[in-house]
Amino acid sequence: MSHDRALTRRQFASDNYAGVCPEAWAAMQEANTGHARAYGDDPWTQSAADLIRELFETQCEVFFVFNGTAANSLALASLCQSYHSILCHELAHVETDECGAPEFFSNGTKVLLLPGDNGKVRPEAVEHMVRKRTDIHYPKPRALTLTQATEVGTVYSVDELKAIWAVARKCGLKIHMDGARFANAVASLGCKPREITWEAGVDVLSFGGTKNGIAVGEAVVFFNLELAKEFDYRCKQAGQLCSKMRFLSAPWVGVLRDGVWLKHATHANRMAALLHDELKTVPQVRIMFPRQANSVFAELPKPLIEGLRARGWHFYTFIGEGGARFMCGWDVTEADVCALAADVKELAAKL
Ligand SMILES: Cc1ncc(COP(=O)(O)O)c(C=O)c1O
Repeated sequence: MSHDRALTRRQFASDNYAGVCPEAWAAMQEANTGHARAYGDDPWTQSAADLIRELFETQCEVFFVFNGTAANSLALASLCQSYHSILCHELAHVETDECGAPEFFSNGTKVLLLPGDNGKVRPEAVEHMVRKRTDIHYPKPRALTLTQATEVGTVYSVDELKAIWAVARKCGLKIHMDGARFANAVASLGCKPREITWEAGVDVLSFGGTKNGIAVGEAVVFFNLELAKEFDYRCKQAGQLCSKMRFLSAPWVGVLRDGVWLKHATHANRMAALLHDELKTVPQVRIMFPRQANSVFAELPKPLIEGLRARGWHFYTFIGEGGARFMCGWDVTEADVCALAADVKELAAKL
């Protein structure tokens, strides 16, 4: 393993590999002046929350936490009692990558898994899961969590979300959205943030900042104000109340000003589209899911995977349904994409 301070090139392993975008960095720098009130009682936190309210064009309650696991599991815990259940897609991050945190923070609320093509929950699957048992022995379904963009890089359309909401409403389910890549979904759909959140029945959103150029932090956005009651205590108890909050919130001001968040997401999506178009011309490569956000999932022959790794490329092969996941961060360039694609083509030609 290399212990270099920085990898020699930008990678496609994860959008978490990328650094901090200049706009977030500048806002941090700006915030680093003098003293400010602690624990969120500062002007930066106020501005960041106001900018989020402006972005979603509605009144909402906003809380800044350190990471996505906390955002998801604390938001879900606020929707459920311990005897309830949370429905999610079987590939959802809350199920596969959070080490049981949603169950832990909700004191045991059971997570029930739904199948669905392309990483998406279907309304019929939701209804089936809710209706299949209604007796006292079954954990009562109370919440549905949807990932937008999904774990396999697809995106729910406005109509798909509304169809799911119709069922959720009928079944008495609250809706949480894991928006670790919410910005990429908005960029992909070309819609207003409100159209895929509160106008589609979302009660609470985990709005991702880290994958979109912020160093650390996600925003938990409650559109259902009632559910936000005492959420500040939940954050504090879970060790998610940042004492020097201005440094968690200022970067949000940096990316929310002048549409920077959308600019970075649009760019990342465009890089993934370019990579997709390059890879699909390689006969030995099978694209696994429609490319709709900032990732490309592809099945590659084993020697090709090994060859790419030997040439220093990092990428995961265990996420979603397996295959190689190539994720484009906000800072990936066309030259980076072309370099990866050239290596894929060269190695494939030798197979
Ligand atoms: C779909 C999804 N949700 C949430 C997260 C946030 O995870 P973390 O707790 O590592 O910030 C990620 C990060 O990989 C993700 O891909």
